[in-house]
Amino acid sequence: RDMELEQLLQAHEWTSKLYHYLLKNTEHGKPALEYLRSRGINDKAIDTFQIGYAPARWDTLVQFLDKRSFDLKVMEKGGLISSKQDGTGFVDRFRDRVIFPLHNRTGKVIAFAGRILGDGQPKYLNSSESRLFSKSRTLYNLHQAKTDIRKTRQFVLFEGYGDVISAWDAGVHNGVATMGTSLTESHANIMRSLADEVIVCYDGDNAGQAAALKSISILEGVGFNTKIALLSDGLDPDEFIQKYGAERFKSQVLDGAVTSVKFKLIYLKKNHILLEEDGKIAYIKDALEIIAPLPSPTEREIYLQDLSADLQVSYDSLKQECNELRQAMQ
Ligand code: GTP
Ligand code: MN
Ligand code: MN
Ligand code: MN
Ligand code: MN
Repeated sequence: RDMELEQLLQAHEWTSKLYHYLLKNTEHGKPALEYLRSRGINDKAIDTFQIGYAPARWDTLVQFLDKRSFDLKVMEKGGLISSKQDGTGFVDRFRDRVIFPLHNRTGKVIAFAGRILGDGQPKYLNSSESRLFSKSRTLYNLHQAKTDIRKTRQFVLFEGYGDVISAWDAGVHNGVATMGTSLTESHANIMRSLADEVIVCYDGDNAGQAAALKSISILEGVGFNTKIALLSDGLDPDEFIQKYGAERFKSQVLDGAVTSVKFKLIYLKKNHILLEEDGKIAYIKDALEIIAPLPSPTEREIYLQDLSADLQVSYDSLKQECNELRQAMQ
């Protein structure tokens, strides 16, 4: 038996209970509770995601673990606490932050993410990488979402914890998120073992759209059918749900998700100035690079029809150019 590993898992479990308790039942937790409420996170969500609060002190957790005879050196190596600069002991890693426990696939707590109350840097702080926790392999909420994912064979992939939580509250129970880092091939392979389709639902800002492009290519690389949800006005999914409600999020954003080809065309269009002829021609050239490799003739026709109507260029000339490009590609 790996005693050190078991000790670490046990400590994470206890820590998540401590922070959850402090949030819900103490004076210290009140401002954090207020903060969560102001963001529309209700008690049920707080319980479902075991959200907690780490107080604004240096040794709440260190003392808690020490009292329970956990080996603090092991805890430090496990990413749970930090060692003092001068090496004379340990201090809490998370102070005055809302705590989101991160679980592995089987539901064991393996790390934490702490969010600052309000503005400030860093906005989120994670446990350090440890033998329990690897960012590039962990998906937030996978342990709870996997039941629904197996049933629907579909994931919804978000950027942030808040997006997963708001979507869950809206009745979308197959949502997961990466830890703010980009999606890795390991993530994609884990996801692929459970499902066939992903709806990428990233933030509606430029960073989110650029990240979506990268994720699509990784997801399609492992054989996923991908769709992309479009969010307007730079909103993220959480903000959209708070502003427009659950129903509109489901019927408009998720049900309205577009194919990855359509998404790439929309993205491309945003990055070309179509008022001038040369801009229009450059856009068509780039668009054809996306359409020409599509194996299905009907698919190609649909996107070319779209393009033709959109730019008022004849379908025939687009098709001809597309076919020439196709041949050149073979
Ligand atoms: P909220 O402001 O709480 O709604 O966060 P968000 O999820 O909308 O954050 P954002 O869109 O800026 O970033 C998406 C994800 O990136 C977050 O959920 C985090 O996982 C991660 N992230 C954002 N800022 C930081 C940071 O300062 N440090 C770390 N480690 N991760 C971050
Ligand atoms: Mn609870
Ligand atoms: Mn963002
Ligand atoms: Mn966001
Ligand atoms: Mn957000």
